Amino acid sequence: MGKVYVFDHPLIQHKLTYIRDVKTGTKEFRELVDEVASLMMFEITRDMPLEEVEVETPVQVAKSMVLAGKKLAIVPILRAGLGMVDGILKLIPAAKVGHVGLYRDPETLKPVEYYVKLPSDVEEREFIVVDPMLATGGSAVEAINSVKKRGAKNIKFMCLIAAPEGVEIVKEAHPDVDIYIAALDEKLNDHGYIVPGLGDAGDRMFGTK
Ligand code: PRP
Ligand code: URA
Repeated sequence: MGKVYVFDHPLIQHKLTYIRDVKTGTKEFRELVDEVASLMMFEITRDMPLEEVEVETPVQVAKSMVLAGKKLAIVPILRAGLGMVDGILKLIPAAKVGHVGLYRDPETLKPVEYYVKLPSDVEEREFIVVDPMLATGGSAVEAINSVKKRGAKNIKFMCLIAAPEGVEIVKEAHPDVDIYIAALDEKLNDHGYIVPGLGDAGDRMFGTK
């Protein structure tokens, strides 16, 4: 079964409070999501494998470490996942970026796929699918299906806020995928919104309604 990690880092929790705040406007919302995505990525990459290389400093040749192992691909779920990409790329600038376009049908709450584009070397990469919200779990399950269908084997899922119901759905559908969350909230409401959550992530990020 995939593991679920909830980040309790004080900086992440502090910034998340302002992301939730209804008074936070679009500009600040975007900046905060970008910062939290960076901080989460810093935590997620803690156990990345290293290998020793030689580097010539101005003083002498030294043994030093560089990242080893699989290369990364980030896959934001459109639209709101886009807001997490730059923050992640600040730490891993060589990561490739795929896209999965999904929207949640407001009546059925089921995800509808409208776009998929992934890097061509899918099998050689570790994938991190990102979306600020994991609510019913339908979008995350569908996005991970999409990435797996195209050959990805090694996948993580990262979000800012999750509902317990959605976490269970993703764990059941994709037991091989670890889930990284900044905050695990209380529940879903009757409209499938996370309580207390932050409202509609896409609308808050892009200033739409
Ligand atoms: C939001 C959010 C997730 C999805 C989560 O996107 O960004 O993708 O809902 O809900 P779920 O877990 O119940 O599937 P939305 O469908 O509103 O699309 P948008 O980003 O284009 O606004
Ligand atoms: N999508 C959002 O943007 N917010 C929620 O609370 C649930 C789904």
